[in-house]
Amino acid sequence: MCGIVAYIGKRECAPILIEGLKRLEYRGYDSAGIAAIDGGLKRVRCVGRVAALEQKIEGMGGCAGTLGIAHTRWATHGTVTDNNAHPHRDDEALGHGITIVHNGIIENYSSLRTWLAGHGHTFTTETDTEVLAHLIGRLYKGDLMAAVQGALKQVTGAYAIAVICEKEKDTLVVARKGSPLIVGVGDDEYVVASDGSAIVAHTKQAFTLADGCVAKLTRNAFKTATLDDTPWTPEIRELDIDLAQIELGGFDYYMAKEIHEQPASLRTTLRGRVDLASGDIVLGGLTGFERELNRARRVIVMGQGTALHAGMVARFMLEDLAKIHAEHDFASEFRYRNPIVDEGTIAIFISQSGETADSLAALHEAKRRGATTLGIVNVVGSTIARETDAGVYLRVGPEIGVASTKAFTGQVMVAAMVALWMGRRRFLSQEVVKTYLEAMHAIPAAIEHTLLASDQVKAIAGRYVDRENWLFLGRGVNYPVALEGALKLKEISYIHAEGMPAAEMKHGPIALIDEGMPVVFIATKNSQYEKVLSNIQEVRSRGGHVIAVATEGDDHVAGVAQETIFVPDVPEALQPLVTVVPLQLLAYHAAVLRGKDVDKPRNLAKSVTVE
Ligand code: AGP
Ligand code: GLU
Repeated sequence: MCGIVAYIGKRECAPILIEGLKRLEYRGYDSAGIAAIDGGLKRVRCVGRVAALEQKIEGMGGCAGTLGIAHTRWATHGTVTDNNAHPHRDDEALGHGITIVHNGIIENYSSLRTWLAGHGHTFTTETDTEVLAHLIGRLYKGDLMAAVQGALKQVTGAYAIAVICEKEKDTLVVARKGSPLIVGVGDDEYVVASDGSAIVAHTKQAFTLADGCVAKLTRNAFKTATLDDTPWTPEIRELDIDLAQIELGGFDYYMAKEIHEQPASLRTTLRGRVDLASGDIVLGGLTGFERELNRARRVIVMGQGTALHAGMVARFMLEDLAKIHAEHDFASEFRYRNPIVDEGTIAIFISQSGETADSLAALHEAKRRGATTLGIVNVVGSTIARETDAGVYLRVGPEIGVASTKAFTGQVMVAAMVALWMGRRRFLSQEVVKTYLEAMHAIPAAIEHTLLASDQVKAIAGRYVDRENWLFLGRGVNYPVALEGALKLKEISYIHAEGMPAAEMKHGPIALIDEGMPVVFIATKNSQYEKVLSNIQEVRSRGGHVIAVATEGDDHVAGVAQETIFVPDVPEALQPLVTVVPLQLLAYHAAVLRGKDVDKPRNLAKSVTVE
C-alpha cells in the first residue's frame, strides 16, 4: 500500500512532506512525488526511493510553498514510471491546476475515463488516479471542496486523497473511503497522513477522517462534512504512536502482520474484478488475449517455492473449473526438459516478486517455443509482469516478510478468477460461476475466523517445537498446501519438514514414523476425506502424533487426532485459501518459540534473482 502526506500552515512544506514520506516507507512503494504551491504549482515525481525524489527536488531548485501534498505509490493501475507517479493533475486545458495524491483503487475509472475523453479530456498517464483529478477539475466552479464532494459521489472503489488547487492557495481538501487518513491538528497548521507516524513529530492532536467524509483545511480552521455536505464532527484525540510499532501494525514481525492482513489483501485482490449479481469477472490484464485463452488446448503452470505451490492449486482449478488439460512444473526444471509447447499452449507464471530468475528463464523458453504467456504477479511493472503477454496482478500490497504468506493466498485467489474466467468462456454456466464468486467473496471472513485460532496454534507449536522432523500430508487440492506448510516450517524455524500426498506416505516415508513424530494432516471435508482418515489411522497406529486441519464441527477427526485446528467449510477447490492459514501460523509460532529471525531467515532472500 502507499503513503500520503499533506501540509497547510505557515512553514515550508517540502521538508515536512519528505520527512513524512520517509516515515511511511515501511508501507512499501515503487515511486514517489510531491507538489507544492508558492505562487504557481510545482510538481516533482520519480521512480524509486524517497531519497531519489529528495535529490531530484534539490536538482530542480527546491519545491517552495506552505501548502503541499506528497505520495509514495504502490502501483495498481499503470506501470511504475515517473509519469505514473503521483501527484496527478486535472486537464491542463481547464487551467485550475487541481492536483491530487491518492491511495486506493478507483474501480470505475475506465468508464469515467471514457466519458471524460468523450467530453474533450486528454489523459497523460495510465493511472486510475488521473481520472479522478480530471473529474474534480471538470466539476470545479470555484469551490474545491464542493468539486471533490461531487466527484467522489461518482466514484466506486477505495480512496484516501489530498487535493490542492492553484486557484485556492489557502485550501487543502482531503477525503477517504476504505483507505486510511489521519488529520493532525497543529498551531495554525495541519499535517495529514496515511498514519500517525508521519504526523506525531509535529502534533499529537489528531482525528481520523470518517469513511465517506471530506475535510477542508485552511491555515487556521477546518470544516468536515459528508459528500452531501452534511456536517460531521471529528473527535480530536491524543496520538499514541510508538513509531517502531506503527510500521509493524502492532505485530512483532512483518510475517505475522501479513498473515493477518490476508482478509484485507484478498478483498483488494477481488475488488472491482467480480460482479456477484451477473457472475462477470473483469480481468483487464487479459484484454487482447481472449482468443488465445479460449482456443488453448493445455496450460502449464510454473513458478518456484510457494509460487509453485499456488501453481499446483491453480492446476487443479483449471482442470476442475475450466476443464482444460493443465499441468505444473518447477520453472527451473521446465527449461531443461524438452516440453511439448505450441500455439495452443498457455504458460502461466506465478511470482510474488516478478523477478525470480528461474521463472524468468522458463518464461523466455516458453515464449521461444511459441506459448502464450500469462503472469500472476504481485509487483506491478516487474520483469515477469512486463514480459508475459497477459497477466493479472495480485494487489495484495508489498510483502516484506521473506516467507511468503499473503502472496500465496493472493495467487490462489487470482488463479480461481482466471480458471472461472476461462471456464465461463468454455462451458461453465453463469449459475456455477456465481456460486463460486459468492464463495470467494466469503473467503476473507473465513480467514478472519480461522485467525482466531492463533493462540491455539501457538500452544500446539509449543508442544512440538523440539521435534526435528515433521511430515505434512494432504490429498488433491490440499496436497500443495501440505507442501506449502512444510516449506513454511522449514524456511523460518529450520525444522526439517516434508510435504507429500497422503497416499504417498505408505510408499516409503511411513518408515519415518516413530513415537511422537508430528504429522500434520489437512483433513477437511471433501472428495478424499475418507481416504485421509485412513491415512491418519496408519500414522496413529505407528505412534505418530496427528495435528489435523479439519472442517469446523468435524468431531470425528477431532476424535482421532491429538490436535485439531478447525477451519470453516468452503468449496473443495477453494479450500487451500483457508487450510493454509493454520500452517502459516504453525510455522510462525514455531520459529518465534525457537528464537529465529522470522522476517529474515538465514540463507534466504525475498527474491531469488540468481539461478
Ligand atoms: C516462499 O516463502 C519463499 N520465500 C520462496 O519459496 C518464494 O516463494 C520463491 O522464491 C518464489 O519467489 P517469487 O514468488 O517472488 O517468484
Ligand atoms: N491506484 C493508484 C495507482 O495505481 C494508487 C495506488 C496506491 O495506493 O499507491 O497509481
